[in-house]
Amino acid sequence: MSFDLSVIPNKNIIVGITGGIAAYKSAILVRRLKDAGFNVRVVMTEGAQAFITPLTFQALSGNPVHTQLLDPEAEAGMGHIELARWADLVLIAPASCDTLAKFAAGLADDLLSTLYLATSAPVWVAPAMNQQMWAAKATQRNLATLVDDGVHVIMPESGSQACGDVGLGRMPEPEELACQVTDYFHKAQRAIAEKFGLLASKHVVITAGPTREAIDPVRYISNHSTGKMGFALAAACYAAGAKVTLIAGPVSLDTPNGVRRINVSSAVQMLDTSMQLLDEGCDVFIATAAVADYRVAEVAEHKIKKSGDELDIALIKNPDIVATIAQQDKRPFMVGFAAETRNVEEYAAGKLVAKKLDMIACNDVSRADIGFASDENAMTVFFAEGYHLPKRDLEKASKQEIAQQLVEAIHDALHHDPAQDEAF
Ligand code: C5P
Repeated sequence: MSFDLSVIPNKNIIVGITGGIAAYKSAILVRRLKDAGFNVRVVMTEGAQAFITPLTFQALSGNPVHTQLLDPEAEAGMGHIELARWADLVLIAPASCDTLAKFAAGLADDLLSTLYLATSAPVWVAPAMNQQMWAAKATQRNLATLVDDGVHVIMPESGSQACGDVGLGRMPEPEELACQVTDYFHKAQRAIAEKFGLLASKHVVITAGPTREAIDPVRYISNHSTGKMGFALAAACYAAGAKVTLIAGPVSLDTPNGVRRINVSSAVQMLDTSMQLLDEGCDVFIATAAVADYRVAEVAEHKIKKSGDELDIALIKNPDIVATIAQQDKRPFMVGFAAETRNVEEYAAGKLVAKKLDMIACNDVSRADIGFASDENAMTVFFAEGYHLPKRDLEKASKQEIAQQLVEAIHDALHHDPAQDEAF
């Protein structure tokens, strides 16, 4: 089970709580679901309220708690039909054997059982009960009916129980339940992106971060690149439905969800890895890495000892990774970056041509508020002449937003047909 709780926006979860000692765990479950970005509403049975108060869940969910089927106040705000329609998922945790029996029989004598019948959202149940009650034939028969009816059952765990018994019947930990819910929405989101995303069915390879050029076994030449822009782009390309491989120099960033990461150190390793990925089939190559221009001609086998006042180290030029890939027969759509301190647009346009790129994004790193270590960026994008696309100014924004706009620019260039362009 991957413990990925990255935020999922604008999804609505109803947590149904029934009468069982595991109801105390549901307080943490609601908290975790809120942390993950879900809108949460809680429905409690009468039995549940004997174990834990609605006030606790009102505070944790930030919404009034629903307890009555026929509550004039609730009906004016959100009655059972509105609740049923509001939900993207209904999670009953803990689900008592009484509730399972009601669901299986189709009874509708309280708010939760009525909601179950009235919703078209997926329903998940996390049964929690005494091991003997779990094993009872009636409980197993009801569960089989619910599975047949399309309910997703989260199996209870085995262990010591509040009643003193040991066996199956413990509700999984709230973090585990929250992860399963988040995972479900991530997978659903991914399935849509893979079909309809701007980069659906594309393999995107991205270089990111600095390279490290060894001087001896303990020293190296490098630069201040943090890799943030490349990592943000990897996340944006994945969200756009692409398969993404990130070739990362030494950086301390977490790998974005769903992205394949290959760690490298030197420019030569970065080029070798890029060439291998080209053989795998690559549609878009994005070079955000701040590749060291030079490497040490002869890396010392042992640590260089302090001696004279001066030390000469001969450097030789590193291969230009993006230019090398752009020269290959089966070249992908090539995107380069240019970080400049002056004549930004002029130098960028020159690099676009010199490196045979399809697109270049340039920024002014002399500005203290954007660029290298900053969380924000502002860029100008140029396309190669053949695309007949005008330059695009991307206003100062978070690197995530800039990444999203770059994905749109790549998509537009990939789908732009100059022959259809009236201006030409
Ligand atoms: O020449 P300059 O370093 O300014 O070019 C920047 C662009 O070229 C970036 O996209 C960078 O990732 C790429 N580059 C490269 N290999 C190098 C140098 C730069 O891929 N050796």
